[in-house]
Amino acid sequence: MKARIQENVALAPLTTFGIGGPARYFVDAPSENVVLSTIQFAKDQNLSVFVLGGGSNLLVADHGFPGLVMKIGLTGIDWETHRDKAVVRAGAGEEWDRLVGLCVDRDLAGVECLSGIPGSVGGTPVQNVGAYGQEVSEVLVSVRAYDRQTDSIVELSREDCRFTYRSSLFNTIAKDRYIVLQVTYSLTKHGNPAIRYPDVQREFESRVGYPLLGEVRAAVRRIRARKAMLLVEGDPDCRSAGSFFKNPIVTEQQFAELQVVAGPAVPRYPAGPGRVKTAAAWLIEHAGFSKGYSLGPAALSSKHTLALVNKGGATAEDILRLAREIRGRVETKFGFRLVPEPVFLGFDIPLLIQEGWVNAS
Ligand code: EPU
Repeated sequence: MKARIQENVALAPLTTFGIGGPARYFVDAPSENVVLSTIQFAKDQNLSVFVLGGGSNLLVADHGFPGLVMKIGLTGIDWETHRDKAVVRAGAGEEWDRLVGLCVDRDLAGVECLSGIPGSVGGTPVQNVGAYGQEVSEVLVSVRAYDRQTDSIVELSREDCRFTYRSSLFNTIAKDRYIVLQVTYSLTKHGNPAIRYPDVQREFESRVGYPLLGEVRAAVRRIRARKAMLLVEGDPDCRSAGSFFKNPIVTEQQFAELQVVAGPAVPRYPAGPGRVKTAAAWLIEHAGFSKGYSLGPAALSSKHTLALVNKGGATAEDILRLAREIRGRVETKFGFRLVPEPVFLGFDIPLLIQEGWVNAS
C-alpha cells in the first residue's frame, strides 16, 4: 500500500494538550509498508520526519511543523503463552491503556499500575513509561523498529534500549534514528499485582489478601483521576501532557543541600546507588504555585501542580510562558533547574537550546 500524503493538517486535535499549528505534510501509516514508503517520500523531498503516537507527551509550536508528521497506526496484538509467562506483541499504534486492560482481563501481571496512561504502545519504550512503582522496562522484551540509519528493520533487545528513568536509547543517543513498529512484553500469568507505591497501598489498607489485578487497575485509574492524570473527555483540567517536568534525580550531597533550604518534608525516593529522586510537584508547590495557578489561558491543574493545562484557547507560547515562570522560581528557591518531560515539536531549536528547554546534543 502506498502512503496517502495530506497537506496542512491541524495537529492540535491529535495532541492531548490541544495546542499547536499544522503539519506541512501528514501521513496516517497503518502498515510497515506505508511507513517505509513515507520515509522514502520524505527522503526524496528532503523533509524532516516526526513520528506521532498518541500525542500525549507533546507540545507543538503555534506555527506548526514544516516537515512531515507520520502518525503510526500499526495495530494488532498477538499472544503466546509459555509456562508461567505470556508474551504479547503489540503494534506501535495500539492504544496503551486498551492493551493494559486486555492484559488485566487475561490475569497477566506486570503492567496493571500503568493503567490509565494516555498514548500508544509505540511511545512506551521511548520514554520508558512508568507510574506507581512499575516501569515498562521491567516487562519489555524487545522492540521491532525501522532503523533510518541503516534503512532496515531491526529487533532491539531490552539491553539495547538502555532504559533509565523516563529515558531510553530512543530519546537520547539515538534520537530520531528508530521508528518503533511493534513492542514485545513478557507478563506473568496469574501473578500478584505490584502494590509498591504508597498511594496504591492506601487504596487496599483494609483489604485482606492480595487484590486482584483488575482491582489494582481500577484503583490506579481512580488515583489518576483524582490527580487529573486520567483523560476525561471534555474536562479542561486534564487538557495537558501529564507531568510537564521530570522529577529531579540528584546526588545524596545535593539532596542534603536541598533539605537545608526545603526542610525535612521534601519528598525522597530511591533512584539507584548514591542517587535520590525528589518530587517536582512538591518543589513547584513550595516555590509558591498553588494548584490551579494560572497565567492567562495556561494554568496548573487544579488537582496537581506538575500538570500544565490548556484551560481553553492557550497557545504553545502561553504554556512556555507559564513553564518559564515555574522553572525560574523553583530554580531561585531550590537551586534546581527543572527539565521538561514532553517533546517539543516545530520550535526554533537554537532558541529552545538558548532557553535551556532542550540540550544542545
Ligand atoms: N505533590 C505536591 N503537590 C501536588 C502534587 C503532588 O506537593 O500538586 C507532592 C506530593 O506530596 C507527593 C509528591 O509531590 O509526595 C509526588 O506526587 P505524585 O505521587 O502525584 O507523583 P509525581 O512524582 O508528581 C510521578 C510521575 C507520574 C506518575 C506518578 C505516579 C514523573 C515526572 N511523574 O508523578 O507520571 O503517574 O509519579 O507514579 O515521573 C507522567 O510522567 O506524565 C506522569 C503522570
